[in-house]
Amino acid sequence: MKVPQMSPWLGKEEYKAIESCFKENWLTEGPKTKQFNEKLLKLTKARFGVFAPNGTLALYLGLRALDIGPGDEVIVPDFTFYASATSVEMTGAKPVFVDVNRKNFQIDLKNADRLVNKKTKAIMPVHIYGTIADMKSVVRFAKRHKLKIIEDACQAVGVHRDGKHAGTFGEVGCFSFFADKTVSTVEGGYVITNDEKLYQKLLFLRNQGRIDRGSFIHPQIGYNFRITDIHSAIGLVQLRKLPEIKKIKNRILSIYKKQLAKLSEITFFEPDAGVEMIPFRVCILVDKAHELMSFMREKGIESRTFFYPLHRQPYFKYLQKGRKDQDDKYFQNAIYGYEHGICLPIFPTLTDRQILYVCDTIKDFYE
Ligand SMILES: Cc1ncc(COP(=O)(O)O)c(C=O)c1O
Repeated sequence: MKVPQMSPWLGKEEYKAIESCFKENWLTEGPKTKQFNEKLLKLTKARFGVFAPNGTLALYLGLRALDIGPGDEVIVPDFTFYASATSVEMTGAKPVFVDVNRKNFQIDLKNADRLVNKKTKAIMPVHIYGTIADMKSVVRFAKRHKLKIIEDACQAVGVHRDGKHAGTFGEVGCFSFFADKTVSTVEGGYVITNDEKLYQKLLFLRNQGRIDRGSFIHPQIGYNFRITDIHSAIGLVQLRKLPEIKKIKNRILSIYKKQLAKLSEITFFEPDAGVEMIPFRVCILVDKAHELMSFMREKGIESRTFFYPLHRQPYFKYLQKGRKDQDDKYFQNAIYGYEHGICLPIFPTLTDRQILYVCDTIKDFYE
């Protein structure tokens, strides 16, 4: 049996939605995008939202709207996808890494005060693997040090903590609609804010430095971050499916948990109390992770490691020069995650037979 790591759930309905764009002859950003925006604002309960071509550029757009640029520093968890930190680099600012906790690999600010200096302008909690970071501690930290909060909620569309949607705790929240994301438009990104001034800045930045199309007077600096109505048409169908996606993915996680409960070698990633999770991956911590992954590969099962700690990425080695708080010693949990973490297959069309096959393979390995 073959079990891929993920498979997008895009089918007939999405295909029909694309067709309707061609029939209506509106393909660039237009009525479908307006509708998609309205639905996303309803879901997140944010006041304003703008689209971007992908999550990386949504983060860049959000950072630029917060006036992050050369000479500034932004605190970013060491354990996240590369783009959280490269979006900071893209503005000319520098990321400064902080470790995560070992329970669910979210940003851990216990020892983070030492990272703040005059250059520190913002903090970027990343809601990793379909849950939400401890935002009370992030907000407290940001207030104490007068920092802006930009949430990387790329993996957390539809996820709530204490009734609040991911991305609505700070100044701006950013999402990705890439093919493996909970809601997908194949490629796509989105930025939300409750601050009208930031919203105005986002509009100028994403639309060539002007509010309306069709004018050649550009009062501010800006670029092209438009999407297309084809992407939005897919997104509208996906949003309709979101309650079902949430139900299916949580059911898959519960089957894995039940099947593997008796294996003392396995610990599941646990969201905090108050989080209504949509599992982005099925994350387990095990001994002999790399051997288990090879064993599963031989049996046709695709798994993934956890993220490689950002401070160890070749490009970010430069951060260790002249600083004493960016080497291995300070990132023990991120390193532990990389060495012991495995992401098991999860996607809406994964069958019970496939899940049981994955679980039996893991049991075989340990037995
Ligand atoms: C946490 C996180 N941030 C940012 C991104 C970047 O999103 P995109 O691939 O849409 O540029 C991703 C995508 O995987 C992500 O997982």
